[in-house]
Amino acid sequence: MRIIRTKDYQEMSRRAAGLISAQIIMKPECVLGLATGSTPVGLYRQLVEGYRKGDLDFSRVTTVNLDEYKGLSRENEQSYYYFMNDNLFRHVNIDREKTHLPDGMEPDSGKACADYNGIIDAVGGIDLQLLGLGHNGHIGFNEPCVHFELGTHCVDLTESTIRANRRFFDSYEAVPRQAYTMGIGNIMKARKILVVVSGEDKAAAVKEAFFGPVTPKVPASVLQLHPDVCVVADEAALSGI
Ligand code: F6R
Repeated sequence: MRIIRTKDYQEMSRRAAGLISAQIIMKPECVLGLATGSTPVGLYRQLVEGYRKGDLDFSRVTTVNLDEYKGLSRENEQSYYYFMNDNLFRHVNIDREKTHLPDGMEPDSGKACADYNGIIDAVGGIDLQLLGLGHNGHIGFNEPCVHFELGTHCVDLTESTIRANRRFFDSYEAVPRQAYTMGIGNIMKARKILVVVSGEDKAAAVKEAFFGPVTPKVPASVLQLHPDVCVVADEAALSGI
């Protein structure tokens, strides 16, 4: 595991965007695993800037996102599809047919998850998976648990995650209680993993995930076993180590 320490959020975003840009330039038909949340917003802005300057071409890139709320349509402003569209897809020359997220409107969880596993296989697996880190050590919506869940699955969100997501919704009640997420197996099969972390409020999670024991109680700790992980974190996020 390589850890890149940056001064602040801006530098974290620039460094992480640099790594993703390098992936796209080295392999223009690459498969990127993408994440939502507040941490990657700055790096998506950098990627859009790279495209506008003519340095990046997304036309052959395929994307598979980590997760989607169950029950939210693509048009819902809180859906992860909407987020991706707003922060990246609509600003670059990506082929929408090559952008994938779990189908939040599929009520049959078994079908939604099997379909998504099928999509990840059909695109040939993930070249570079981007991850944020939850305060409780979650990655995607893989919450602290007694075992690592391998494939895409439907999760009941924990209180901590519902509270953390509350800021994006009108009310606590409006926050969805379930989501479809890639499993730890899907993530670990990615050829490279890039984790972005910012802020002092993540310092304890960073310490536990990357310097503590590997345990499903801290889902991100499993990344210690992956052969090619790069964590780009600002000083505040690394202040606990
Ligand atoms: C987002 C996701 C989540 C977030 C995590 C951190 O697709 O899967 O695991 O990466 O909750 O969120 P932020 O960046 O908002 O702190």
